[in-house]
Amino acid sequence: MLGTPGQLGGDLVDEGTRRGHEMIGRTQWECDITDSAAVERAVAEVQPDAVINGAAWTQVDAAEEHEAEAEAVNATGAGYVAAACASAGIRCCHVSTDYVFDGTATAPIPEDAVPLPRSAYGRTKWHGEVAVREQCPDHLIVRTSWLYGRQGPNFVITMLRLASERPELRVVADQHGAPTWTGHLAPAMLRLLEGGPAGTYHLTNSGVTTWYDFAVAIISARGLPARVVPITTAEYPLSAERPAYSVLDNRAWRELGEPPLPDWHEGLRSYLAGLEPSEPS
Ligand SMILES: NC(=O)c1ccc[n+]([C@@H]2O[C@H](COP(=O)([O-])OP(=O)(O)OC[C@H]3O[C@@H](n4cnc5c(N)ncnc54)[C@H](OP(=O)(O)O)[C@@H]3O)[C@@H](O)[C@H]2O)c1
Repeated sequence: MLGTPGQLGGDLVDEGTRRGHEMIGRTQWECDITDSAAVERAVAEVQPDAVINGAAWTQVDAAEEHEAEAEAVNATGAGYVAAACASAGIRCCHVSTDYVFDGTATAPIPEDAVPLPRSAYGRTKWHGEVAVREQCPDHLIVRTSWLYGRQGPNFVITMLRLASERPELRVVADQHGAPTWTGHLAPAMLRLLEGGPAGTYHLTNSGVTTWYDFAVAIISARGLPARVVPITTAEYPLSAERPAYSVLDNRAWRELGEPPLPDWHEGLRSYLAGLEPSEPS
């Protein structure tokens, strides 16, 4: 597992261990994926049955100003990991994002929809997918969305912190997506890794919401008094453009006969139940 601990990386290591796998994690300092020799060395030393690449540049807005650095990790580095897997004859599991799409869809987006990223982050993640497909035939590319887990940083943790500091939060209500808890995503990814056919998969919690409704659910679940006010994307300008609609149809997963991942409300409930009552402080 590359790119540990990370939000998703931590849950993948724990879930894999629970399922009886020997999970070996490498942090950025132990294996920087932008260094092809370091990646090859790590694979040669560990001799794994598969590699999960959870390493990524995930600062979406900073990527606008630092696209070359983001590209080095999300695309070039991803290609190094895939090439090392192909040389070792093992499976490469790569994580991608709803940001590879342009956000103009009006119905859940299937795996074979044409990507058209509108942000630097989205472009680098798309280039990473291309590199993985080219370099390693035995690949799993898992696109997910609105991810949260562990100690973050993520939207849930941010809303809880802001709600403890302010009487009112203004949250965007015109972007639609599927919040996804790493605790539900990790077992599905492991299941694919253990025997699913190679290819591209969408894996998200079920259902659809907006950031506004998600914030309301978070704050009311904790009984916090802060008021949430819906605003438009135009009222909250950020460096990187966000997809207006990025619900991913988990079609390939369902076609394997697998049950849909739980509804996002259930993901949120489970995540909040696992956080210390005082978090974040
Ligand atoms: N967060 C979301 O909403 C979201 C949505 C859809 C898809 N995804 C994708 O899901 C995956 C996991 O996301 P996440 O939120 O769990 O990310 P995260 O918490 O930011 O974790 C990313 C990990 O990658 C490591 N890393 C960064 N540069 C590296 C390098 N050059 N070599 C090795 N490791 C490096 C980071 O280490 P440091 O902490 O030391 O920098 C961190 O441990 C990513 O591929 C992301 O693109 C995320």
